[in-house]
Parts: sequence; structure tokens; C-alpha cells
Amino acid sequence: MPTPSDAITLHPARSVAGSLRLPGDKSISHRYAMLAALARGRSRLENFSTGADCGSTLACLRALGCTIEQNSDTVEIEGLGPQLCPPTSPLDCGNSGSTMRMLAGILAAQEFPSTLTGDQSLSRRPMARIIEPLTAMGAAISASDGDHPPLAISGARLRAIEYSLPVPSAQVKTAVLFAGLLAEGETSVIEPLRTRDHGELALRAFGATVTRQKNRTAIAGGQSLRPLHARIPGDISSATFFLSAAALLPGSRLVLDDLLLNPTRAALLDVLTALGARIRILNAEDRHGELAGAVQIEHGELTGAKIAAAQTAALIDELPALAAIAPYTKDGIEFRDARELRVKESDRLAALARNLRALGGRVEELEDGLRIPGGQSLSGGEVDSFGDHRIAMACAVAALRARAPVTLRGASAARISFPGFFPALETILQR
Ligand code: S3P
Repeated sequence: MPTPSDAITLHPARSVAGSLRLPGDKSISHRYAMLAALARGRSRLENFSTGADCGSTLACLRALGCTIEQNSDTVEIEGLGPQLCPPTSPLDCGNSGSTMRMLAGILAAQEFPSTLTGDQSLSRRPMARIIEPLTAMGAAISASDGDHPPLAISGARLRAIEYSLPVPSAQVKTAVLFAGLLAEGETSVIEPLRTRDHGELALRAFGATVTRQKNRTAIAGGQSLRPLHARIPGDISSATFFLSAAALLPGSRLVLDDLLLNPTRAALLDVLTALGARIRILNAEDRHGELAGAVQIEHGELTGAKIAAAQTAALIDELPALAAIAPYTKDGIEFRDARELRVKESDRLAALARNLRALGGRVEELEDGLRIPGGQSLSGGEVDSFGDHRIAMACAVAALRARAPVTLRGASAARISFPGFFPALETILQR
């Protein structure tokens, strides 16, 4: 939980200007690291995420016998092939749901037992969603109340399944595909709503064949992986806070270089454009199946939006930043079908509602979303990250147009995905 000692004061700003290049995407960094461990040979991953979450993944892989060298943001991983080494103690996933859920897919196929633990926040997050498919594949997994960490996994020779995701989740899809890589037969995952496809693209980048037909993704077990040399594009979910700030503040113009533009992650660009911001893609290239390029954004008068269903699923990590700018839009923003936000690193719907109210904002908290009227002006005040990195960064955006300084408790939570967030923000603010 946040402590008062890591409170910071956020001052309003006039505009943002300049350019930024961000650390590598968190979702891709986790997946590349895990698959590098399963490849035979040495992978080299440049611009690897600097977030503590990806550090948790690397620590777990080291505990599973991988040799990993890290030099600033370049990570070299000596893969062990499909069988990793038994760990001598529980694997600590820290705050990272991605580490726990996706690694569980790999551990389900190992010959040894393992235990996955996490911090207080992770210990409250639902895990039945991976236990169910991995158990159906033949692993034995026990959890507290059948749903919460720690997870005790007894790996097995897995058999392929066809699995329909009950909740849209790229972490679960990836866990099942990683298990499928190590299983006998063809494993497939059917998704009712499209989620990010980095798991599929990463498997291909490491040399596996993965097929997709409509909403069904399939992988044949027993394929071997080759190592990868790659530069990971900048994290678009971290970029969201800077893009939202530029959309919000009159006179802003910002360029983000080498940014991830994968279409399953770039829905934010469409929403900001529809709200009234002016966005241009300056260049784009394919990098091991992932799209990367430079984005320029300029402020525009922001109207309003209703975000629901498939759009909510596509924007799941971007909703806190959009909630932060919602009061300042003309017509407000309504978020629906966003129940999943209640089981993220914090209950994000409750956290956003409390923080906006703490700044004098009006907001209606719904069971599955938020209704935030537009045309508001926020005051100064005291807000809290609730130990959640995206809530901390969203508060920083909301504070930029407040009438007075805002004190943010638990600001250091930003380290989970982007330790350099506050200094990076300072470099582009004009006061
Ligand atoms: C992620 C998927 C999403 C997202 C998380 C990262 C991923 O979680 O919120 O930050 O890398 O696959 P869910 O799979 O729970 O939707």
C-alpha cells in the first residue's frame, strides 16, 4: 500500500511540447522473455521494459535456471528449451498478473512442482480463469479458495484442448497457447471479443506456427523455438498518459518515436481522434510481426464519447487515462462493460471515482463502469494511487488542468510499468 512518504505534488501546466521515446512495451517484454527461455540459444531483447513487472518475470526465469544478462535496457537470455529447471523456492511474481498467469501456462507443462506467489494486490486477483483451462489440459493446480494466489502447480504431460474464453483476456489466451506449445496435439483458443495478439505474434517471431481463423487461434504442440534478436517498440499503454495530456492541453504538440502501433493495442488513437485531438502516424514499420512507428498528436477541442463492449476490451489499460481527461471534455465520457477494471491492480472504477471526487469532480460509479459528465473544472486536492501504477499516472494527467496543485499519495506505484514516468512528464510540460 502507498505510504505518505512517497507523496508528490503535481502542478497544473499550460501545454506539452517536444518528443519522447518510451521504454519497451510491457506486454511484449513479458512474452519475449518467457519464449526466449523456452528457445534453444541466446536471445537479445533491446529496449526491454524497465517496469518492475517485467523485472519480476526475469527474476522468475532466473529461478527456473535461465542465465540472463541485463545491460541497461538490453536483456540477453540463454534459453533452456522446453524443459526448465526446478526452482528451489516459490516464484515471486510481485505485482504482476501477467507474470503469474502466463508463466503458469509454461509451468503447467514442466516435470516439477512449482509455486507462484505475489504481493498483496496480486494475491487478491482472480486466477480461476487460468486454473480451469490448464487443469483441463492435465496439470494439477491449487489456489486459495480455488481462485487466488499462491498457486501450487504440479506440471504434467499436457493434452491439447479447444478453449472458449469466458472473459476477454489476452493473459489467459497467452497462457493457454504457451501451454499448447508444450502439449500433445493442437490447442486452440476462441475469443468472443478480440484481445491483444502479442502472444500469437511472439510465438511466430520465435519460429512457431500459429494459425488464426476468425476468432479461433491454434497452435500445434511440440514445436521448437529459435532465439530472437529484437528491439521492442515503446509501450503504447505508457504513451497513453502523454497522448491524453497532449489532447487535453491547448497548444500542445507532441511526437512519440518508435511506439508500438499494433492494431489490437492502438484503439486509443481512434478514440482520441474521435474526441477531437489531431493525430498523425509519421512512419510505421513491421518488427517481427509487431507494427511500430512515430505518432504526432496535437490538442483539439474534446467532445465526448461512450465506450462499451469490444471497445472497452480493446482499451482496457487505457481507460484510467481517458477517465482523467473526461471531466474536461465538452460532453463527458461514459465507460460501460468495464467490470474487469475492478479486478486489476486495484479496483480501478472505485479508485478513479474517489480521486475525481477528491478534486471536486462529479462522477457516477456504475457496477460496470463510470459516467463522467463533461464541462467540469477540477480543483486541487489530495488523491491516492491505491498502489496502482495506472491510477498514479492517470492522477498526474487529471492534475495538469486542475485549478490548483494536487498531492498524489503512492506516486511510486508508477515503477510497476514505467519508473521514469514523472521525470519524462516534466521534460514535456510547458508552464
Ligand atoms: C495484458 C492483458 C490485459 C491487460 C494487462 C496486460 C497482457 O489483462 O490489462 O495489463 O499483456 O496480455 P487481461 O488479460 O486480464 O485482460
